[in-house]
Amino acid sequence: MKNIYLMYPQKKGTIAPEIYGHFSEHIGGVIYDGIWVGKDSDIPNIKGFRKEIIEKLRAIKAPVIRWPGGCFAETYDWRDGIGEERPVRINWWRNRDGRYEPNEVGTHEFMDFCEAVGAKAYFAANLTSVPPLHIRNWVDYCVSPRGTTSLALEREKNGHPEPFDIPYWGVGNENWGGGGNMTPEYYTNEYRRYVTVMENAAPNAEFFVCGEDGLDFHWTHKVAENIGRVRADGYSMHYYCGSTGDPVDFAPEEWTAQLERASVMEKIIRKNWHIICAHDMQNKLKLVIDEWGCWHPAGSGPSKGANLFEQQSTMRDAMVTALTLNIFNNHCEKIKMANAAQLVNNLHALFLSCKEKCITTPTYHVFDMYKEHQGAEGIQVTVTDNDVFEESLTVSASVKDGKTLVTVGNISCKKDAEFVLSGVGMELPEKAEAVLLYHEDMHAHNTFDEPDKVVPVSVNLDLTQPITIPKTAVLAIRF
Ligand code: AHR
Repeated sequence: MKNIYLMYPQKKGTIAPEIYGHFSEHIGGVIYDGIWVGKDSDIPNIKGFRKEIIEKLRAIKAPVIRWPGGCFAETYDWRDGIGEERPVRINWWRNRDGRYEPNEVGTHEFMDFCEAVGAKAYFAANLTSVPPLHIRNWVDYCVSPRGTTSLALEREKNGHPEPFDIPYWGVGNENWGGGGNMTPEYYTNEYRRYVTVMENAAPNAEFFVCGEDGLDFHWTHKVAENIGRVRADGYSMHYYCGSTGDPVDFAPEEWTAQLERASVMEKIIRKNWHIICAHDMQNKLKLVIDEWGCWHPAGSGPSKGANLFEQQSTMRDAMVTALTLNIFNNHCEKIKMANAAQLVNNLHALFLSCKEKCITTPTYHVFDMYKEHQGAEGIQVTVTDNDVFEESLTVSASVKDGKTLVTVGNISCKKDAEFVLSGVGMELPEKAEAVLLYHEDMHAHNTFDEPDKVVPVSVNLDLTQPITIPKTAVLAIRF
């Protein structure tokens, strides 16, 4: 029997809503036939974007969406995505999936999508293959007040007189790899050039420095050491927990191994933060984990490999989501934003779609169950008898407007767990509502034929008694 203590007096800080953010890149089936179906499509749409996805993102209060990449951003010319004539270009990913980029979705369209969802926009700027002035001009085009610059007039001519609200700009993507294969010293110098002119055009926006890949802490050291006095509002880092075994037919040991890999996120957060604080950069380089998720071998999704990186999402991916979001909540004072990669038909997706079909994955349901953590005060949680990873619970808790949300995942794929929930500094009520995400088969997943195989159910809990959480289940308790 475990005890979960909610330490009410020990507040950790506000859980930034943006920690529950998303990512939509021009890759595979994310944009075209994913979120975008076209304005003339028979598929219900809002300004060309799939209505079902918009409504479901509204339902989970999606706070922010990153665009247009990823690696795609590093060969993106924003001018291709405005006006009537849209050129077809080589998509960054063309050598992997043979697709070209039609540029049907550009700046105006993506902003329509954000507006329909009610999410903030986070743009990733190309630092590898265009000069700083080109990016300064994109910022000018987007945010200069109506009727001021020639680019603001061009925006007006293209149908949007008022400036777009783009609060976040990434300055480069994975510049240690696909974004120019730079050294951290070289990247930091480039960052200084770009951010200086970008900030000049949008002094109120926030700018994120490209961070390291997974465990490459040398990059963090060098960037923190060399960033100097220039503007920086966040440190963007990526961690994919890869794959163990088949995406769907994995063995029990592979369930655990996948979750162990996901749990490395905790170390990455701690270590990066430690380095950033050691350089006294904690006010400039709060963490922005703008790509995270499982990266299984492609081919298990409904397109059977036609959509690059598309993967099926089982209860195991849902547990990776639950664990990762709990880690973020428990480190909320260090984290400014996080973006699951990616939204639809790709890695760790919330949706799978093809033409008129569109389903939610178990990962979507976890985002739904966790949504009230957004903007809440994270509180310290202590769990007893929780040291053996494969039998452990992942837990986080928060309070907002006098209501507590506790989210618990049972990491074990073999044993149900029992726990008693207790409040320290506050007496808990006797009863609570809860939502349970569980399937007796840990490989369970949703398909176009069985879209509701894995769905959450409501349960009532008696908090005066021990609570049983089934193996592989996620439970959200609210009172
Ligand atoms: O999410 C797919 C790719 O993974 C992104 O384009 C890139 O940033 C990362 O390597």
